[in-house]
Amino acid sequence: MKRHVLQLNPILVPAINDKLESRYHMHRLFEQEDKEAYIARHAAVIEGVITGGHTGISNALMDQLPALKVVAVNGVGTDAVDLNHARSKGLPVTGTFGALTEDVADLALGLMLAVCRQICPGHAFVQRGDWVRHPSPAAIPLARRLSGKRVGIVGMGKVGRAIAQRAAAFGCPIAYTDLRAMDDLPHRFIADLPQLARESDVLVLAAAADKAQGIVNAAVLDALGREGVLINIARGKLVVEEDLVDALQRGVIAGAGLDVFVDEPNVPAALLQMDQVVLQAHRASATVESRTAMGEMVLASLEQGLAGLRPEGSLTT
Ligand code: 8YV
Repeated sequence: MKRHVLQLNPILVPAINDKLESRYHMHRLFEQEDKEAYIARHAAVIEGVITGGHTGISNALMDQLPALKVVAVNGVGTDAVDLNHARSKGLPVTGTFGALTEDVADLALGLMLAVCRQICPGHAFVQRGDWVRHPSPAAIPLARRLSGKRVGIVGMGKVGRAIAQRAAAFGCPIAYTDLRAMDDLPHRFIADLPQLARESDVLVLAAAADKAQGIVNAAVLDALGREGVLINIARGKLVVEEDLVDALQRGVIAGAGLDVFVDEPNVPAALLQMDQVVLQAHRASATVESRTAMGEMVLASLEQGLAGLRPEGSLTT
């Protein structure tokens, strides 16, 4: 008999969906009109939950599923899950650690290049036919170089390290902040975030957001300065978004590359109009390669959790 799994977010890799379908009785909550009624109807039989990093699972839903044995997060951010609550229930919560590192770091570099070199306005200029109408090279302002710029990384986990590797290949001196200095890294540790911002041309956010809400505020942006660029591929809530909009509007910083926002999919309207900003729709791990590897890890977590074993990627058991 197939066990019952509740899926809170779509998975975009057909081969993973096929495996889920063949192994489990899948309950796709995201396809249901009346989600509460659906959960109430099926709660008793649900033994596994699949969710996204940004979606997580509420304590109320954990408590509503009496047979729940595992929560598999299809992502690395667990800020939307109360891990202590899961721990108190003996419930394993897993993540897809390591599966998406390269792609998230690649997008960070893509955003750094796009903002510094003004790739998006340049693309729009050609696409609109403006190059033909205004063939003078003076029609587009000069951009800024990325190579050799001082890069400050906030959060030196797997993703932060992969960004550092790539930025180093661009000849960028690297400094970082985290909860502590890491002695296996050749880069400079700067404990104080405003100080790191002051000593960076590009500040990249790669930190977990569990305990770091609003760490990038007006003071940090002020320290980053008018030539500075902010990149965020981690979580929107690391930033005080109103402070960021204000800093961009007043030229306190030069630009930003943002994959994540406080209230996705709602992006502050002011950001939509800015040429110095490059926006993405939370896409850093959205490649066939990452999502396939993530899906396989979710499958393994479900299998282990439902067999009563401790899943390999469990953070809570
Ligand atoms: C995913 C993420 O977009 O890993 C995370 O924490 O936010 C992203 O990789 C999301 O989890 C997709 O399910």
